[in-house]
Amino acid sequence: ASGKTYKIASIPGDGIGKEVIPVGQRAAEAAAAKHGFSLTWTEFDWSCERYVETGQMMPDDGIAQVKEHDAIYLGAVGWPTVEDHVSLWGLLIPLRRELDLYANVRPVRLLKGVQSPLANRKPEEIDFIVVRENVEGEYSEIGGRLYRGTENEVAVQEAMFTRRGTDRIMDYAFKVAKQRKRKHVTSATKSNGIVHTMPFWDERFAAAGKRHPEIETSQYHIDILTAHFVQHPDWFDVVVGSNLFGDILSDLGPAVAGSIGIAPAANINPEGVFPSMFEPVHGSAPDIAGKGIANPVAAVWTAAIMLEHLGETEAAKTLEAAIEATLQAPETKTADLGGTANTEQSATAIIEAING
Ligand code: NAI
Ligand code: MG
Repeated sequence: ASGKTYKIASIPGDGIGKEVIPVGQRAAEAAAAKHGFSLTWTEFDWSCERYVETGQMMPDDGIAQVKEHDAIYLGAVGWPTVEDHVSLWGLLIPLRRELDLYANVRPVRLLKGVQSPLANRKPEEIDFIVVRENVEGEYSEIGGRLYRGTENEVAVQEAMFTRRGTDRIMDYAFKVAKQRKRKHVTSATKSNGIVHTMPFWDERFAAAGKRHPEIETSQYHIDILTAHFVQHPDWFDVVVGSNLFGDILSDLGPAVAGSIGIAPAANINPEGVFPSMFEPVHGSAPDIAGKGIANPVAAVWTAAIMLEHLGETEAAKTLEAAIEATLQAPETKTADLGGTANTEQSATAIIEAING
């Protein structure tokens, strides 16, 4: 028992974010009580609903407000009433950039009781982590459009890779690998087709490999790498990619491990200068929002990763074990996993497993 108190900024957001974040909070509270530490929550209503009312996803001093916390716990942001690029650039991207959350981390693990869409894969065969560069690369605002609406219309967008940005994401990936059994890092590249930034990426990956000689490395072009994720998920331990390639891999990875309803993600500031942000991979799911059937497991697994990041490793393990316990029977898991439980029944089972 650390006896510590952690201040968490919670942003449920839109749609099922508002249904699953309270479950994650309950689960985290139960784990905290069991392991002797406390959590205090400040809830922020930043969302598309707020945008429709006020014209802003979050207030002007929003970033300053969340900086006062030890971590940020976010549901999902996005709703059909607001264009997706408005909600993304009005909330998630400013948070990632201004808090320098440069490592996006997605564990991909086939849990017992979940069926992979890949035939005959067993849990021990799918267990890797995708590390995505989260603040530069292909997602830049450099560029522009000319001659709109005419035959001569042009659109240009520049990718930007800095040595500092590239080196630090690779060092982070190697450090993650160091804590794992297999100690292997795979780099996603495309240095055959993209002739400036990707050869640079490869050079910096080779240099990072020299800084971490105890870690084995391999690299693949992104096209064949996506095929390997499907055909040979057992080859991977830690996979590092640029903002765009990492984005693709970090959706494909959770997909091979089963349902989007279980996949967790973290946006990390590894130096701890700013709070890191933890969010399920899934979005606001307008098609099922309000029905009380969303799978809360992604939110609970996300809470586990948050507690692990805060140093409460035992509590994180308790949450993960509780999740796995509820995935063993149809009555305690939701329909997306072939179960019969609604959100509340799944939540109750998770809490009981934590307390049990
Ligand atoms: P989505 O993840 O919300 O939904 C995709 C499909 O998965 C839907 O059929 C949905 O019902 C299902 N699903 C998702 N989470 C589930 C859960 N916990 N339990 C059971 N089923 C679940 O992705 P979509 O539809 O592309 O996006 C909807 C909105 O969410 C958009 O506005 C989008 O911009 C936003 N979004 C936000 C994200 C974020 O805040 N980080 C991430 C992805 C999307
Ligand atoms: Mg994505």
